[in-house]
Amino acid sequence: MTHSATLAARTAPPAATGLAATQTWSSRLGFILAAVGSAVGLGNIWKFPYIVGEYGGGAFVLVYLICVAAIGLPVLIAEIVIGRRGGGSPIHAMRTLAQREGNSRAWSLVGWIGIVCAFLILSFYSVVAGWSLLYLGFAAGGEITASAGVDAADKMASLFTRLLADPGRLIAGHTLIMAATIFVVMRGVRGGLESAVRIMVPGLFAILIGLVIFAAATTGEFARAAAFLFRPNFSALTLDAVLVALGHAFFTLSIGMTAMMAYGAHLKRGDDVPSAALAIAGLDTVVALLAGLAIFPIVFSQGLEPSAGPGLVFVTLPIAFSQIAYGGVIACVFFLFLGIAALSSTISVLEPVVEYMEEHTPFGRAGSACIAGGAIWILGLGSVFAFNIGADVKLFGMNFFDLLDYVTANILLPVGGMLVALYAGRALSEKAAREEFGGGGLAFHAWRFMLRYVAPAGIGAVLVTNLIQSAH
Ligand code: TRP
Repeated sequence: MTHSATLAARTAPPAATGLAATQTWSSRLGFILAAVGSAVGLGNIWKFPYIVGEYGGGAFVLVYLICVAAIGLPVLIAEIVIGRRGGGSPIHAMRTLAQREGNSRAWSLVGWIGIVCAFLILSFYSVVAGWSLLYLGFAAGGEITASAGVDAADKMASLFTRLLADPGRLIAGHTLIMAATIFVVMRGVRGGLESAVRIMVPGLFAILIGLVIFAAATTGEFARAAAFLFRPNFSALTLDAVLVALGHAFFTLSIGMTAMMAYGAHLKRGDDVPSAALAIAGLDTVVALLAGLAIFPIVFSQGLEPSAGPGLVFVTLPIAFSQIAYGGVIACVFFLFLGIAALSSTISVLEPVVEYMEEHTPFGRAGSACIAGGAIWILGLGSVFAFNIGADVKLFGMNFFDLLDYVTANILLPVGGMLVALYAGRALSEKAAREEFGGGGLAFHAWRFMLRYVAPAGIGAVLVTNLIQSAH
């Protein structure tokens, strides 16, 4: 195929409809904001601090940083490259590209894994995102500051326990998040996603920097928090921690389930991919570390433990909020921050599903968003009930919520990421890869090398070790 023919094929609307698929971000900055909005979410602010706490601090952070740089970044570039080259929904992108490049049709499996993963991830993610809205309500209603005093720890633990025991309230939070997500996605790439992230992402950074300054200026424990995050203690590092670090690198960069492929499909030709990916991965990492530097000083200053697990942000931190000056206001700001970060991520999980439905059903964008979002809402009820009436329903020793979290972050995302790496590193022709990467210099060869050898070997080793370990 000649270059102009390839170009025509690439800009041509995909199969059935094509409106949304041909719509582009207004600029490269619009794309970067959307991708940063996707990457920065509960993963950075809720999960990262608590897994750092659980897995012992600095050594875990170091392994995580290596996973982001050596595997996450190359796979992120690969997803954007495949998305833009193939166009349309991720399934469409993989299928068309494989066809054009003369690869096996089986590669569209990558897109299918992505769609399945999107359902699973969004269904439990939205429930946790709902907690942040409910906590925003607690903070605004004075329930957190009212718990000040010696028994604040008990009161906060009981607030969280009572919340989890109440399916009605959990469903309310989950419903609000899914409704907002559907609302934004319905309005399209530029009118919905891009306008939303143009407000949300700068807002996120402003709030986060404010919180770090507050923690540094008032708690007196900033140095201790920094040492906890950055001083590695390798005796605390377990095999399990390495798997969790790798899985989290995928989760936090929103890779392994084609969300970034969908976003990349709307990137204009000629916009440089590697520098955009570097900005996305860099900003995502900075936010995770800053979240640690905002949360741990507050936690330490109240003599609390960093290893509280998933309750870190919803129990430990509110205990601290209840004790400090301006705690009520800070709590409102924090949970607002968490909610915004979550919403700019949930839209990126729904987007690939909606794009696929738009191509293959007569429902259009709005109808597809409502149907897919509605189905995910129903699946999410499983996670809601995992905390109360369905707590005893266990598979492999895990409740429904934990199972979804485990299967997606630790199995499906790494497998999806490995396939993306193999496709972009081996099956995609060097010419196509080079054109999309924007040059064939040292950086290009380093990228292909990481995709061919480092990412598959790293992901494979971690997956196999994990399988052997869980078989015992
Ligand atoms: N990266 C987001 C976070 O850290 C979550 C997320 C958004 C995601 N889109 C994704 C995770 C796609 C995996 C795949 O909270």
